[in-house]
Amino acid sequence: MDTKLTSLDQFKSWAKENGFIFPSSEIYGGFQAVYDFGHYGYLLKENIKNLWQKAMWQERDDVVSLDSGIFMHPKTWEASGHVGGFSDVLVEDKKTHKRYRADHLIEEFLDSNSEFEIQNSKFDEEIVTALEKKDMDKIAPEKLAIIIQELGVKSPDGNDLAEPRNFNLLVKSNLGTTDATFNEENVTYLRGETCQGIYLNYKNVLDNLRVKVPFGIAQVGKAFRNEIVARQFVFRTREFEQMELQYFIHPDMNDEVYAMWKEERINWYTNVLGIDKASLKFRPHEKLIFYAKAAEDVTYNFNSMGKFDEIEGIHARSDYDLSQHAKFSGQKLDYFDQEKGERYTPWIVEASCGLNRLVMMVIDHFWENEKIDDSGDEKRDYRTVLRLPKNLAPIKVAILPLSKKEDLQNKAHEVKKMLQSDYMTEYDETASIGKRYRRQDEIGTPYCVTIDFETLEDNAVTIRDRDSMQQERVKVDELKDYFSEKFS
Ligand code: GAP
Repeated sequence: MDTKLTSLDQFKSWAKENGFIFPSSEIYGGFQAVYDFGHYGYLLKENIKNLWQKAMWQERDDVVSLDSGIFMHPKTWEASGHVGGFSDVLVEDKKTHKRYRADHLIEEFLDSNSEFEIQNSKFDEEIVTALEKKDMDKIAPEKLAIIIQELGVKSPDGNDLAEPRNFNLLVKSNLGTTDATFNEENVTYLRGETCQGIYLNYKNVLDNLRVKVPFGIAQVGKAFRNEIVARQFVFRTREFEQMELQYFIHPDMNDEVYAMWKEERINWYTNVLGIDKASLKFRPHEKLIFYAKAAEDVTYNFNSMGKFDEIEGIHARSDYDLSQHAKFSGQKLDYFDQEKGERYTPWIVEASCGLNRLVMMVIDHFWENEKIDDSGDEKRDYRTVLRLPKNLAPIKVAILPLSKKEDLQNKAHEVKKMLQSDYMTEYDETASIGKRYRRQDEIGTPYCVTIDFETLEDNAVTIRDRDSMQQERVKVDELKDYFSEKFS
């Protein structure tokens, strides 16, 4: 039996069966690349979000919060370059007319054809490097067309592919028309990234919140992208949450601040979320976009995908964002340093991560099939345990009456009431106590409190620890102090 999650299909089934993440619109046959978070998934997501917010604006003096609108003036997306350049290269199956990301079809072809011929007079150095690295991400459509033709890449249904072409990822909408039909003139967009709302509020924050460069604005919110590939569970979805920090600096501070945020963010993953350092790696971008001074992804080694992949981007963006919005809006988006008498457009260092990917990372990292017996019966010999750090656990304490006898139920409800204002608790009286322990292990609950017949005599309960499975007897009157120490 594998001790870790080994595939996305396994992950997806587990997440659904345990109430963490559900595929969207299942009763209508599903809706691609959108997922809904169930009770435990939502609670876990909120716990991660709260820890990020705490690190950003509670534990620092130089970062303020923001909650900007999902809709913004359409010019925002022209200024940002998204209308012109935010695209994936797609190819269409000539027969079924289904569309696929060209880079992914080629990468899949390379994975299943280890003997492909890399020497080809039509391949230039860029193509050869991309083929060697099996990374087509930044290759232009014309070059992808050459690769597809020369290697004979087909669609997943085995059909010929049409010419690759760019497909914009912004999700269009329209607002404010009396006509319900879609009108290109009134087009507006669901935000493709949350940081644009930060750039648009730079002046408001500067003028009204008494901040001084260097300072940051951080926000969490939904972003939308018309992603084509829908086979990576919540790793790549069309609607997702981003947690983005934009840190405004003097240009001279760029290198120092970039290094500082790299360190801050990796420390957050290891010290706050408890991810092993060995499971995280920085991956520098191969090619920097023209305005960027540095760009690296924080990658995590996903057991369920068998590879390191991106969870966060840390980018030194120069003055591009504020300069573009200044140009398109006609407003001054600069900064005057009164002490130095210097006026300049601040540069930005960005740390941008996907909350859904972090939920996925955390489950992937702490999910374990643990051998606990040697009877030969797999079901008995293994338990699935989500060894989440206590601060991440969706349910902190489960309250389990040993039987459905009224006296025990009443006592259990009394204990729950006593704890639920401090902790997220759950009451469960269904199935055998062994099954209920396993259920709580699987969703990562650190402690189970069992109310048994003796409780009625001695006013004490049994507390079971998720990780050690050790049990101890604690007086009901001491429970509050007991947990306050355990969760401190
Ligand atoms: N403002 C910069 C920005 O948006 P990005 O690399 O496109 O940069 C940042 O996105 C992070 O957002 C990624 O590292 C990833 O964690 C998350 N992300 C991006 N696209 C996503 C998608 N389709 N589904 C889920 N998460 C996504």
